[in-house]
Amino acid sequence: MAGHFGSDNTCGIHPNILDALSQSASGHSPAYGSDTLTRRIEDRLRALFECDLTVMLVSTGTAANCIGLATLCSPFGGIYSHSEAHIINDESTAPELFTGGARQFSVGGDFAKPCLEALEAKIAVSGARGVHSVKPSVIALSNLSELGARLSSDEVSAYSALARANGMKLFMDGARFANAVASGAESPAALTWRAGVDALSFGATKNGAMAAEALIFFHPDDAALAEFHRKRSGHLWSKHRYLAAQFDAYLQDDLWLRLASKSNDKMAQVKDVIDATDFISVVAGGDANELFVSMKPEVAAFLYEKGHTFFSWPSLPNAYRLVTSFTTEQQEIDALRNDLSGFKG
Ligand SMILES: Cc1ncc(COP(=O)(O)O)c(C=O)c1O
Repeated sequence: MAGHFGSDNTCGIHPNILDALSQSASGHSPAYGSDTLTRRIEDRLRALFECDLTVMLVSTGTAANCIGLATLCSPFGGIYSHSEAHIINDESTAPELFTGGARQFSVGGDFAKPCLEALEAKIAVSGARGVHSVKPSVIALSNLSELGARLSSDEVSAYSALARANGMKLFMDGARFANAVASGAESPAALTWRAGVDALSFGATKNGAMAAEALIFFHPDDAALAEFHRKRSGHLWSKHRYLAAQFDAYLQDDLWLRLASKSNDKMAQVKDVIDATDFISVVAGGDANELFVSMKPEVAAFLYEKGHTFFSWPSLPNAYRLVTSFTTEQQEIDALRNDLSGFKG
């Protein structure tokens, strides 16, 4: 046995979600999201987020992020995020494609939380020349952050104040929003619209679904063109009920929260294992299900040799990322502990 700490994308589908898919497999149902199951998901998300909202279900996080950004940002707009952001590093040029050419700007900041002062300066400079500049349009956060940190509602509110002061929107990439919620005591509403978030991509794929993400707009006016962006980009599923079925099981009895809590608990154990060594140190993360550690390449090679999977993280020196999921087993963590105890440096 060895640990699968490479990504929460490598794990499988939760049985309840697979059941929900097979239960909706037979019979006929209206296409393109006009089905009753999709209506039910919208109502469930309204209850979960304690507000009225507009939902668009899609099958990838990149689609959710980019349809969201394209809806909030014109082709001559500017999008501002942390230099580690998924929309900067991991979505090729999809944000530029979907928005029709909006420009992305990035800043630094500890634990992949964009530095507020740097954001403010970047917005001011990039928008300073009116029609000759870009139109600062969206601040994009990730919660969890890309370095595994949870943003509190107070932190989110500070970004929202900056966005409002500049006539901009606040977008949140929530590929691991479930893990962020599970790692604190604040509600989904507190971490989003009550703190000024305009749109959220609420991930399910990494946390038990086969392929399902909910793009949520908290103000109906903002969402007016989202449906066109989804269709135009080829992300409007005809058999939409299978996206809805996944979310139906995901939201049932707080499965999303239970799975994220389990995943976070497993990471807490991994962190204990790492903390007990004197040759690996934690450099970031650990709030939820991602941990960033620093170790010599020979330690990493030793662990790879034992069969553990995890990835290097090029933007930090000698850094590697470990991720747990709802499927992480106790034996995987025990194996990591045992193998590390056998390392002779
Ligand atoms: C922070 C973040 N956002 C979004 C995504 C979604 O990406 P994908 O388009 O691969 O589903 C991921 C997946 O790795 C992610 O880590």
